[in-house]
Amino acid sequence: MTLKHVAFIMDGNGRWAVAHGMPREEGYKHGLEALMCVVNRLNARGVEAVSAFAFSVENNARSAIEKAAIFEQVKKFNRSYFGNLRVLYMGDIDALDDDVVDSIEDIERRTCKNNGTVLNIALNYGAQTDIVHAAKVAYDKGVFDEAAFEGALATAGLPKLDMIVRTGGEKRLSNFMLYEAAYAELMFYDKLWPDMTESDADDVIKEFERRVRKFGK
Ligand code: IPE
Ligand code: IPE
Ligand code: MG
Repeated sequence: MTLKHVAFIMDGNGRWAVAHGMPREEGYKHGLEALMCVVNRLNARGVEAVSAFAFSVENNARSAIEKAAIFEQVKKFNRSYFGNLRVLYMGDIDALDDDVVDSIEDIERRTCKNNGTVLNIALNYGAQTDIVHAAKVAYDKGVFDEAAFEGALATAGLPKLDMIVRTGGEKRLSNFMLYEAAYAELMFYDKLWPDMTESDADDVIKEFERRVRKFGK
């Protein structure tokens, strides 16, 4: 089967920095480099959509230094990206600082007609919040079928999620794409996110093609 939509839980940036003798917050710069390397490769291989977990609602509990470093990378990417990816963000974006929101609106506008892979970045995102929001939309409309519910999720319009890949050794979803994960394949790497390479992107595709999906049959 062809991999259409893969999601990455990009974990291990802080540990990577510490292991290289740097402060934790330095890890996010290298994390962004790894993301571009992986996504560019998946784009070249024709994968339709990549979702990337960049900042969870729970990550708001991190130190001010760490949060500033993460959002600095977000803004840097938004300002400097001019390739053919179509960039989208999901999560509670309006709650973020104005300069972050402006940079997001700018890159979404700039890339909206692009024909490459959709890069869907989860920022200030929590799956439970998204599910509750979708339930409210369905309630307000008085329509409760799965199609209406899915159409109200932040991932509406993206291909069905095929696979979730988590780096950094932990084996949990940490409130990421819980509804979409229903029949997604799961893949875990012990390596830390900044160590991901183009060849790992190829391995993700290869591993997905090896999986036998049964959907209960
Ligand atoms: C992923 O990296 C999470 C974020 C980008 C906020 P971490 O910052 O959690 O890195 P580790 O897991 O502490 O090494
Ligand atoms: C998940 O990593 C969030 C992101 C990758 C953005 P965390 O490091 O926040 O997850 P936990 O706390 O280990 O579950
Ligand atoms: Mg972590």
